[in-house]
Amino acid sequence: MWLFLVAVIVLLLAIIVVRGGEYLALYGRNDIERFGAVVGLFRNFDRLFRTRFGPIEILGSCHPDVIQQVLSNVDCLEKPFFYRFTGLENGLLSAKHQLWKKQRKTLNSSFNLKILYSFIPIFESCCRKMIEDLNELAAAGPTVNIMNCASKCTLEMVFGTTIGIDVTNQSNEKEILGYVERLFNLVSRRMLTLHLYFDWVYRFTKDYREDRKLRTICIEKANELIDEQKKRISSRKDCNRNCCDELGSESHYRKPRIFIEQLLEESNEEEEKFSVEEIYHNAYTIILAGNDTSALSVAHSCLFLAMYPHIQDKVYAELRNVYPCEDSPITPDNLKQLEYMEMFIKETLRLCPVVPNIARQAVNDVWIDGKRVPKGSIFVVSFYALHRRKDIWGPDAYQFDPENFHPDRTKGRHPYGYLPFSGGPRNCIGWRYAMISIKVMLIYLLRTFKLSTDLRQTDLRYRFDLTLKLAFEHLVRLERR
Ligand code: HEM
Repeated sequence: MWLFLVAVIVLLLAIIVVRGGEYLALYGRNDIERFGAVVGLFRNFDRLFRTRFGPIEILGSCHPDVIQQVLSNVDCLEKPFFYRFTGLENGLLSAKHQLWKKQRKTLNSSFNLKILYSFIPIFESCCRKMIEDLNELAAAGPTVNIMNCASKCTLEMVFGTTIGIDVTNQSNEKEILGYVERLFNLVSRRMLTLHLYFDWVYRFTKDYREDRKLRTICIEKANELIDEQKKRISSRKDCNRNCCDELGSESHYRKPRIFIEQLLEESNEEEEKFSVEEIYHNAYTIILAGNDTSALSVAHSCLFLAMYPHIQDKVYAELRNVYPCEDSPITPDNLKQLEYMEMFIKETLRLCPVVPNIARQAVNDVWIDGKRVPKGSIFVVSFYALHRRKDIWGPDAYQFDPENFHPDRTKGRHPYGYLPFSGGPRNCIGWRYAMISIKVMLIYLLRTFKLSTDLRQTDLRYRFDLTLKLAFEHLVRLERR
């Protein structure tokens, strides 16, 4: 049996060597070198490169014209098979095209601005806890790993707005956070390791056994929380029916409408829009897609604020102007006034797009950049390389400069030249959620602390991963204002 397996693996590797030497360039290197090798591959080809993985054709690009043709093409809205390693094939991120189309149409309305703004009080309460944690850590040592506190905060936010449960009240909160993070790491590793694509290889690994174990624990825990919430919603519905006349409809609007509530309501409609599995998979998907991404964005932002004190002063001055007192309330209107902070966040996501690469699959034969691409081919797009193109961003493309997003400079820029949240109909559904929550987190951080570091931008090294991870910790010094 083992001999047979080894023979098959050798044969597969031989196919890859003959038909796609680029993959082998990734083996035998450390994570930092692998990241560099992948970015180098995209940079070496100005428009489009083609290679093969066994029978499947793979096309890669970091050119805005080509990316636009792929992401806006209705025949390229499918996700390749490896997205299904998340185990959430009935949720938006990994769903097959037809299921995705039905779900996205319904879920778009769950991410409208009115609903997102109703989450501000939840975001604020999570931020207050983050500041408490940071105060303790800042008193305990010279530097703080800002990513630890940011990811705890974003996980609390997504749990709070998706399932409506305060995870900080759970006695085993730290354990839950650890499990979710570890599971995400295992899924990432499988997506990025070619020989683990084959189920029959993966099943023999330690990762598989750990994946199964963690998945069972996480799903049990999440199901428990969702069931608790379901009961609360139905008892509230009974109460609403009884007390409707006394309360009127206004109280309903002031309350944040968390996602699970909306998903459950969708499934109650006559045509049964979402199955039970779809509800669960979408709740987990939102938690998975919204946690690490937003936390990394805040952690990268803090590093840039600490590295460039004059930019930090400018962001802070604007903040003081909009929120003169420590406890000035955060409202949708005053969030919109933070124009420089928005330029700063956009620049952070340009140089550090936390989702550096994405993939799509053609469901029919398509024509891309004048070439016929057969059905089933996989497109890989590098946002990291796109965001550093000198023909879009000028000779200083590698320099951190929020002025890149000044309205005078953005005029006439290619619509697919800046895509931290991807583009086309299958872009990030949570992009407005992310921008609001990141702003609220930065307001709290900067109101309380001045950030500094000895690091320089040239010191930043990234690891080959699904999200843009630094090769070292996000350490900053915090001084109370
Ligand atoms: C800075 C933070 C974020 C970034 C940079 C980001 C980026 C992205 C990108 C690039 C995609 C496309 C992925 C692909 O095609 O493979 C995506 C999809 C998605 N994101 Fe985000 N995201 C962020 C935050 C969030 C948040 C906060 C949520 C939810 C609360 C969220 C929910 C989703 C979902 C559900 C999808 C799948 C959409 C679909 O296929 O229709 N994201 N995100």
